[in-house]
Amino acid sequence: PTVPPFDYVIFGGTGDLTFRKLLPSLYSTFRDGLVEPSSRIIGASRAAMSTETYRARVLEALERHLPAGTLEEDSCRAFLAQIEYVELDALGGSGWNTLAALLDSGNDNVRVFYLATSPDIFGPICRQLQNAGIINGKSRVVLEKPIGHDLGTARQINHDVGQVFQEPAIFRIDHYLGKESVQNLLALRFANSLFDPLWNSRYVEHIQITVAETVGVEGRGGYYDRSGALRDMVQNHLLQVLCLVAMEPPSHLATESVRDEKLKILQALAPITRDEVVQRTVRGQYRGGAIDGKAVPGYLDEPGISEDSQTETFVSLKAEVHNWRWAGMPFYLRTGKRLATKTSEIVVQFRPVPHSIFPGYSSSDLIPNKLVLRVQPNEGVHLHMMAKEPGPGGLRLRGAVLNLSFSDTFKQRFPDAYERLLLDVVRGNPTLFMRRDEVEAAWRWIEPILEGWREFDLRPKPYVAGTWGPSASVAMIERDFRSWHDEVSPEG
Ligand code: BG6
Repeated sequence: PTVPPFDYVIFGGTGDLTFRKLLPSLYSTFRDGLVEPSSRIIGASRAAMSTETYRARVLEALERHLPAGTLEEDSCRAFLAQIEYVELDALGGSGWNTLAALLDSGNDNVRVFYLATSPDIFGPICRQLQNAGIINGKSRVVLEKPIGHDLGTARQINHDVGQVFQEPAIFRIDHYLGKESVQNLLALRFANSLFDPLWNSRYVEHIQITVAETVGVEGRGGYYDRSGALRDMVQNHLLQVLCLVAMEPPSHLATESVRDEKLKILQALAPITRDEVVQRTVRGQYRGGAIDGKAVPGYLDEPGISEDSQTETFVSLKAEVHNWRWAGMPFYLRTGKRLATKTSEIVVQFRPVPHSIFPGYSSSDLIPNKLVLRVQPNEGVHLHMMAKEPGPGGLRLRGAVLNLSFSDTFKQRFPDAYERLLLDVVRGNPTLFMRRDEVEAAWRWIEPILEGWREFDLRPKPYVAGTWGPSASVAMIERDFRSWHDEVSPEG
């Protein structure tokens, strides 16, 4: 085992995230012997249910959501035996004594309170935990996103939770930071000497960050329609990835240094002022179309979406980091639902060579280098370069790709992002979690965009499901004589 024994209490214990992600990830850590087998998981929710029924539902979820062939009979039985269920009213008084008694029987276990609930009850749950006297020196709280709806509500949540827990015990999860290839970005940048000298606007022409999904709102219409792509994805996942791409080398991994450096990037993001939203942002909303040859409905026809909804399911924007390293160079960010492929990647586009020595080739004929970090699927790194075409004739040049595929190179299972993060909470290691000031700085940058959209009544432009979003997104980048990195096949 790599972590001390723990009791993981999951509020929202019957929710979608719990069954789809948290429990399968916790099971995998049990199965792989990473945790003390005496550790327990306590599902808490309002639903009336026995522990036995809850275990049956957990089993069902494991069968449904774990990759085929990874659920093992013995470890599964042992895992289920460690699961308890407590019926509890998060806002009222009932159930808290039962939870307290259960935790007391867990001796000296680390206590994790995972709040997989709506953010408006984060504060109230923390107060209840305090009143019930179940927070001890080994207790930590995990906050699922979204942390608030805007800067004001985020501050309020941070304040309320901060009244009960000290900042080092608060873990704000952004599961993108737990993804293997996002962490690999740290390895690539700081465990190699090759890239850093070129990692600045003198050599890099621009950077693109794309998180494209093929799924729609997946039964989360009620939440999503009040949120939209900017709040749901950009405020957290895309900005966090941008921070890891753009930050200065931290002095050490296991300290506050990574979070300090990320914060500096968020603070250096040039504001997109209200007047600039028209040029620098694009909103989109999908209409019916086809994904992988199958017809899918439009956003407005999804359950839980108001019929005249103006919520964006796609956003692309042009950001700038105003500091010494990145001055004068854009970062294009793009994310959306029901796009052509499920692809998350970071594209670092280098500048062209200054001069061509090759007869018949001008310097613009030589395709500039491009480094593509594929976050998912097919995790890997591709370096697009120029090479000589084989043959005895004259020196003919052609583009070629140096391809590091993680699955071919490391023949191991790729853990889900949550596996690493759930155990980091038990370890008390906050490096891959968002600090209070980061969350607030990110909202501070997002808010003027939301205000600009409101003020100029910038409605989302329709796009057909299964495409790359509204044509305005292509037009935005083409105005700068650049293009989105779309031409790749899923293999890259
Ligand atoms: C979540 C968003 O945070 O991330 C979802 O709320 C989105 O809307 C999901 O689908 C994407 O995560 P992943 O790991 O599938 O890329």
